[in-house]
Amino acid sequence: MQTEDIKAKVKGRIGREILFYQTVSSTNTIALDLAEKGKTEGAVVLADSQEKGKGRLGRTWVSPPGVNVYMSIITRPEIKPKDVTLITLMTAIACTTALRKVTGLNITIKWPNDLIVSDKKLGGILTETKTSPERINIAIIGIGINVNMDIDAIPDDLKDIVTSIKIETGKTYSRAELIAEILNEIDKWYNILNRTDRERILSEWKQLTSTLGKEVMVTVGNETFFGLAEFVDDEGMLILRLQSGMLKRINTGDLTIYRC
Ligand code: BTN
Repeated sequence: MQTEDIKAKVKGRIGREILFYQTVSSTNTIALDLAEKGKTEGAVVLADSQEKGKGRLGRTWVSPPGVNVYMSIITRPEIKPKDVTLITLMTAIACTTALRKVTGLNITIKWPNDLIVSDKKLGGILTETKTSPERINIAIIGIGINVNMDIDAIPDDLKDIVTSIKIETGKTYSRAELIAEILNEIDKWYNILNRTDRERILSEWKQLTSTLGKEVMVTVGNETFFGLAEFVDDEGMLILRLQSGMLKRINTGDLTIYRC
């Protein structure tokens, strides 16, 4: 992958510096280490493969070489810690918008951060933060997109739930072009985030999600909740109408849509 091709297309401060590695443990781990040593905001850690790619909820992110996008962006957002979920929501908006533009696929967002097409997962976002009571000192935005991965590279137990852009379109895409589009969209939405323009973020997220209005099952630790995904509140929390009629506010969890 040529970082020069990406830099030539990047317009803002997100992605002005790109640190490319052939293989890493996890781009999020490298980015956090660099951020703690003072690396400037907007720098991107990009890798061709990851040996210990991290997914949400302690899962592994399948990261074979030569085919997908694995990148982590160093940010220092000027928002309050209670608004931390907005970082993931704005990133999901940016990725969905960029990928729709380049591929034409009808990608949607499954709360909070899954990029979905044909009911399968195409990509995900893992935001890791270092926070003090008043501010978010560092937010590492990790993005994984399955681009040119063939079905054979997907582990058997994930074949029914994971896909790639190539599997969906039958075409091979330039990772550099996709990365540049994503970074430019993130640059735009990061400015909106820093103004804490939650209305703009939430209204756009609602346009792009396929979760709201669906009967869902959400697992949070050892508990499982069933209900209607009614809305997302000002801080990006999912509000579930439980079968009892009561509302449940959920900040993170594993969501399955079981009825449309
Ligand atoms: C999810 O579970 O949906 C989040 C997946 C996030 C994967 C990306 S790949 C780049 C970055 N580095 C990691 O180790 N994880 C994130």
